[in-house]
Amino acid sequence: MGKLSGKYAIVTGGGKGIGESIVKCFIKDGINGIAVLDYDLSLVEDMVSKLDKATVEVLPIKCDVSNEKQVEAAVSQVVERFQSIDILVNNAGITRDSMFHKMPNESWDAVLNVNLKGAYNLCKYVVPIMRKNAYGRIVNISSISAFGNVGQANYSASKAALIGFSKTLAKEGGPKNIIVNCVAPGFIETDMYKDVPKEIIEEHMKLIPVRRLGQPNEVAKAVSFFSSDDASFISGQCLLVSGGVSA
Ligand code: CAA
Repeated sequence: MGKLSGKYAIVTGGGKGIGESIVKCFIKDGINGIAVLDYDLSLVEDMVSKLDKATVEVLPIKCDVSNEKQVEAAVSQVVERFQSIDILVNNAGITRDSMFHKMPNESWDAVLNVNLKGAYNLCKYVVPIMRKNAYGRIVNISSISAFGNVGQANYSASKAALIGFSKTLAKEGGPKNIIVNCVAPGFIETDMYKDVPKEIIEEHMKLIPVRRLGQPNEVAKAVSFFSSDDASFISGQCLLVSGGVSA
């Protein structure tokens, strides 16, 4: 029996990076079923093919979270398969980094549409199910960038908005036993970080008290905690998983 035994989850952006680690961590923690949404289905299928699926049902779904119709269809598919959705992790996110004075409209729109509207779309279709069941755990993946990071005005705005969004859903969902929190990763060794210029990485490193990048599974463990009943009296919070970088 793991701490997620008996539960069914949706993880968005689960094909690689932090999302992939969350999927693996949930399986290790005994989840019964997990729907893995990603716009790139081949990534998910490749990841799923390597999992030990003896004790878990894994449902890969191609879904662009910024597209409401695709999200509605994906949530229906999950309900049809699992009958229930106990846990939602809004992890799907993109960056389009540039200084604000050089930022094209398309970069602003793309980032806000995936990172913020994507979480909105999922919550729109999942929250009513959780209200009906009088049970739910939602974890929204924010970022240390929510508190400001040069070159990420769009990303920072989306990730800061997720914190306010989560705090409100926590207040509204509390009476229905819907617990909502954010996990805000710091600088984590993923594909998203690999294009950051070397001199900026050196600057970041000086800011990180533990003097190293985080690993995706170090974020996943915090997400699993918030998704479990160990966190049943913690709601509306934002936990930094950042090696000591503070907001
Ligand atoms: N504070 C203020 N100004 C700074 C600065 C800082 N820390 N660092 C650089 N600058 C200034 C430079 O002095 C320069 O100013 P001038 O134009 O007056 O010369 C300007 O910023 C940089 O301009 P460039 O034309 O040289 O830079 P660029 O347009 O080629 O690239 C950038 C800018 C894309 C933002 C690049 O610096 C970059 O990629 N930065 C990293 C952004 C980052 O941290 N991304 C995190 C990715 S990981 C992630 O997002 C996950 C997560 O949750 C954290």
